[in-house]
Amino acid sequence: MAKQDENLLKKIIAHSKEYGFVFPSSEIYDGLGAVYDYGQNGAQLKINIRQYWWKAMVQHEENIVGIDAAIFMHPTTWKASGHVDAFNDPLIDNKDSKKRYRADNLIEDHIAKIEGKINKEVAKAAKRFGDSFDQAQFVDTNPRVMKYKEQIEGIEARMKAALDSGNLADMKTLIEDEGIVCPISGSRNWTDVRQFNLMFGTEIGSLAEGANKVYLRPETAQGIFVNYLNVQKTGRMKIPFGIAQTGKAFRNEIIARQFIFRMREFEQMEMQFFIKPGEEMAWYEKWKEKRINWHKALGLGEENYRFHDHLNLAHYANAASDIEFNFPMGFKELEGIHSRTDFDLKAHEEHSGKKLRYFDSEEDRSYVPYVIETSIGLDRMFLAVLSASYKEEQLEDGSERVVMSLPAPLAPYKVGVLPLIAKDGLPEKAREIMNELKYETECVYEEKDSIGKRYRRQDAIGTPFCITVDHQTLEDGTVTVRDRDTMAQERISIEALRAILLQKYR
Ligand code: GAP
Repeated sequence: MAKQDENLLKKIIAHSKEYGFVFPSSEIYDGLGAVYDYGQNGAQLKINIRQYWWKAMVQHEENIVGIDAAIFMHPTTWKASGHVDAFNDPLIDNKDSKKRYRADNLIEDHIAKIEGKINKEVAKAAKRFGDSFDQAQFVDTNPRVMKYKEQIEGIEARMKAALDSGNLADMKTLIEDEGIVCPISGSRNWTDVRQFNLMFGTEIGSLAEGANKVYLRPETAQGIFVNYLNVQKTGRMKIPFGIAQTGKAFRNEIIARQFIFRMREFEQMEMQFFIKPGEEMAWYEKWKEKRINWHKALGLGEENYRFHDHLNLAHYANAASDIEFNFPMGFKELEGIHSRTDFDLKAHEEHSGKKLRYFDSEEDRSYVPYVIETSIGLDRMFLAVLSASYKEEQLEDGSERVVMSLPAPLAPYKVGVLPLIAKDGLPEKAREIMNELKYETECVYEEKDSIGKRYRRQDAIGTPFCITVDHQTLEDGTVTVRDRDTMAQERISIEALRAILLQKYR
């Protein structure tokens, strides 16, 4: 996949709409910014991604259980969690383009540009020195690269200091000192940096009864923290153990661009792992490794993932790292792994007056557990899957096809069942086969258009296998199975079909 391929993103957006994956929300009214609806194929792909995550995190993990907490929570939850006071983005406007940016993102993009210069120097040297090239030595000794690295370290240190101290004036000075320009206007005509809270608020109860301000949850994690003791006691959970959940979260994102990458209503898949205090760094490393391995096992290309350790820690964390994915816009955050200490449980103890402890019978003492969190956006995962799977291919006969080479477990349909023509008893036979397979997996039946067109359609929505029922099927009980990626076709008996397909898509 090409880096920074805006063209690819445009194609994915168009393809998603044309094939029923993603539509702009309430499109007949011209849409709503950064809100999207999932169509018939997108909804199924989403279910499959959610299930794939749930299986790995709950079904395959003996000491992790799943819950489903409500979106609305007692308003004190968000005071305790720090979101009322600290869930802010530092924003800056360019006075010429009138565009608004997150100040830290502007600086990070500037750092990425300097990293790009280092990569160019390395590529040039690798070409010049050939096999004898020692990249590590080059990066440590080349004066130009060393200067770039020093520049990056300086910028990072200044940004961290400004964010940690909340000194927004320093943040603006850094942007000015680095000569960062607006990507749209190209000018350095910036406003001051100011904080903006991202939570959506609403009211519960009628005004007559005395309305109460509530928030749409900005993360699913707090539903887990407030249920920690309920689950620990009723599930007789022993530390270390985890609680997982998937569900909607809402953020009033100001800079909401790039399709479903940054939405105002989105879905998270989160897991809080409760551990003994002092063991957090070992568990943090373990979960980083487990999660990156989960991503890589999906087969979207190992080179598309990297870790990015946080300089600017959220108010609850003492260590944090992102798993970044090589989206069409470049490497960006896909999942966060955070060491949240005992921040949340302690804060909920203080605000609720209820003890949220764990009695450790081996150590004969009670403590507030520490927490390692893994948090991934389902919609971002969806975009990662689409961007790595979208392919335009030139075929030997000179024609072209668009194929979504989706990992089989995630594909909306695993099998397309296609009668060669819509007569001579072929549709009836095809439906008979479909009726058997549909209890095993997601199948789609199609009889309209030529078989070639139907193959292309199934390629475009990512169906890994198509079964074609023809006249020979009626004679000898065999069908043609076509593989989406290789387009190879093989003839197999209907009896063998179930076992072969199950083996291929599981
Ligand atoms: N509970 C921790 C937490 O919410 P986060 O880094 O703010 O941490 C976790 O969010 C994940 O949720 C991100 O890695 C991203 O995949 C997803 N996410 C966050 N904001 C999002 C948005 N506006 N649109 C889509 N996905 C988002």
